[in-house]
Amino acid sequence: MKFPHANRVVLAYSGGLDTTVAIPWLIEHAGAEVLALLVDVGQPDDMPAAVARALSAGASKARLVDARDEFAYGCCLPALKANALYEGVYPLVSALSRPLIVEKLVEEARAEGADAVAHGCTGKGNDQVRFELSIAALAPDLKVLAPARHWGFTRDDSLAYAKSHGIWYSGAARPPYSIDENLWGRAIECGALEDAWEEPPEDAYSLTAGAAASSEIPDVATIEFADGAPIALDGIPLSFPDLIAALGGRAGAQGVGRIDHIENRTVGIKSREIYECPAAIPLIAAHKALEAMVLTKDEARFKAQVEAAWAELAYGGKWHTPLRKALDAFIATTQAAVQGTVKLRMHKGSVAVAGRRSLFSLYDAGLATYGKGDPFDHAAADGFLKIASMEIATLARTRGAAAPVPEGNAHEAAHVAQPVA
Ligand code: ARG
Repeated sequence: MKFPHANRVVLAYSGGLDTTVAIPWLIEHAGAEVLALLVDVGQPDDMPAAVARALSAGASKARLVDARDEFAYGCCLPALKANALYEGVYPLVSALSRPLIVEKLVEEARAEGADAVAHGCTGKGNDQVRFELSIAALAPDLKVLAPARHWGFTRDDSLAYAKSHGIWYSGAARPPYSIDENLWGRAIECGALEDAWEEPPEDAYSLTAGAAASSEIPDVATIEFADGAPIALDGIPLSFPDLIAALGGRAGAQGVGRIDHIENRTVGIKSREIYECPAAIPLIAAHKALEAMVLTKDEARFKAQVEAAWAELAYGGKWHTPLRKALDAFIATTQAAVQGTVKLRMHKGSVAVAGRRSLFSLYDAGLATYGKGDPFDHAAADGFLKIASMEIATLARTRGAAAPVPEGNAHEAAHVAQPVA
């Protein structure tokens, strides 16, 4: 298939090999002038070096946008209020950054009068979906160029193409993993991790200490929340980005935040994913614990459904949609009561909630106690149970009493499914 032509294209540039190679490749195959846009969402890369690399690869302009605060308050904070964990485990690190990167990409394309935008995603991943659904939502008139879906390069081909175009590439000739990092955590894929049976090598991790290297002494942290947002760590008020950094550093030293997951990608394949989210994991644990204390049972049950829907939407790239905004509006109404402090104990890779308190607590120790002076009206439970058991008693009278639990059969229980040959 012939690659589409464009006049001016703004490329979402990461500084890595693929998006660097994409610059001369787009000049050659799309006949376009290429402008590189690097969006800082908290990745630890050398940004000035990346900007210089884009220019040396042939970009006519290369611009760095600092979007760290916007990312923290506009993407990570809503994810925290949604307790967002895709498939119950993944805090959506990469999924949260793409919609914001696209916002910046479209702004730049408008400012530069570009007719196209480009990204370096391959055809197998989720990130292409997130880029292109957000572009469709924000700028349906712009052409989208995805060179990595067309060139059919292996990593060696990319290196050879870079070399033949005089591109200086300082990374190791063959980086062992594919990494995406931002304020909310780090995603690690490929290489040795593709064998789902093999334990990830320690060198895959950079934000968290392994069991051997983690601290022998537990770390107890208190986190104070206002309107569902963390505002202080151990009594010291911090901005959200600073709190992420401070808590992440402490949790990482305790080995907290490692995730090893076989994940269902949007494109229909399962992939083995390793993540390190030393701030997101304890923050979500603390936020959930406080919500358990202050939300009504009905709110909590319904919010859990909203949270699952929110995580699916964000994972699938449907950030810029009316439903995501509607879910955020619901979540916002629940957060007014999420005020208080949570105590976390972090040690040897695990985080446990050790205590919580709130002025809005619905937990009434007086009502809950089995001790003296309990104001709970025990006699009132007689009437409650008469009514609560009415339907079940009627059922037993009309259809016969329920059969007792059968005795277990050890042989049946030991039956094991056999794989299909
Ligand atoms: N599987 C994760 C996700 O879909 C991580 C993606 C990481 N991206 C990358 N280019 N390495 O969100």
